Amino acid sequence: MVIHRPPFIIHHFSTLGSTNDQLKEMIAAPEFTCVAADEQTAGRGRRARAWHSPPGDGLYLSVLLRPQPDASSKIPLISLMAAIAVAETLIERGVAGVDIKWPNDVLARERKISGILAEGASAGSDSTRITLGIGVNLNHTAFPPELSASATSIAIETGERVAVDEFRDQLLERILRWHEVWKRDDDGLIVNRWQQLSTYARGQRVVVTLDDEQVAGVTAGLTETGALRLITSEGGMKTILAGEVTRLRKNH
Ligand code: BTN
Repeated sequence: MVIHRPPFIIHHFSTLGSTNDQLKEMIAAPEFTCVAADEQTAGRGRRARAWHSPPGDGLYLSVLLRPQPDASSKIPLISLMAAIAVAETLIERGVAGVDIKWPNDVLARERKISGILAEGASAGSDSTRITLGIGVNLNHTAFPPELSASATSIAIETGERVAVDEFRDQLLERILRWHEVWKRDDDGLIVNRWQQLSTYARGQRVVVTLDDEQVAGVTAGLTETGALRLITSEGGMKTILAGEVTRLRKNH
């Protein structure tokens, strides 16, 4: 089924392996083409993890963006902007304790409610393809044992079920708004809004797991391209481009 929500064209499937994989196969698709599914049988997360995607319980959505090559330095901000859009939509829905863990895990009361997987590929000389995959836990009332301590959903947080297509459209509106900001080069606005929405942004004692080492330190905000600044235990400043953040203790 194809749903028109200009500028978005949403290709809706009842079941798919992964909406990101489906969208990647649509080689000639224009910017803002979306793929959504009621369930994913091979939903993927970051760091080769699976994304739990049971039918009807979650939003499983991928959005195609085609930034110009001269915008390549700003590409890391795309997933931060998506996290902002998700966080704002959740807040609008009355979810309490919404937070963003760097770079783009959206939490509610410290449990993960949404994950973002932005995957890029060069699509010739005039633009780059970014497949922006977003999973949001909406109607789950329980999770598999390995997730039950760390995951939550809107239904668990608010006691109310959510119409998946309404949530999708509400989120797409926010994505469009923030994408405009991104295109206008108002990068400071994206970084500032992210920092406002995240308790992890500053003054948090964290450990960051990199590919082959762990770095401990206190967070000191984001750079203008969205990297995380860390004051390390030795007192130096380290800029983290990719890694897994774990909070050591609460400061409040
Ligand atoms: C993460 O937090 O690890 C990212 C999870 C991303 C999940 C979404 S669901 C829609 C899209 N299709 C996928 O296979 N993954 C992303």
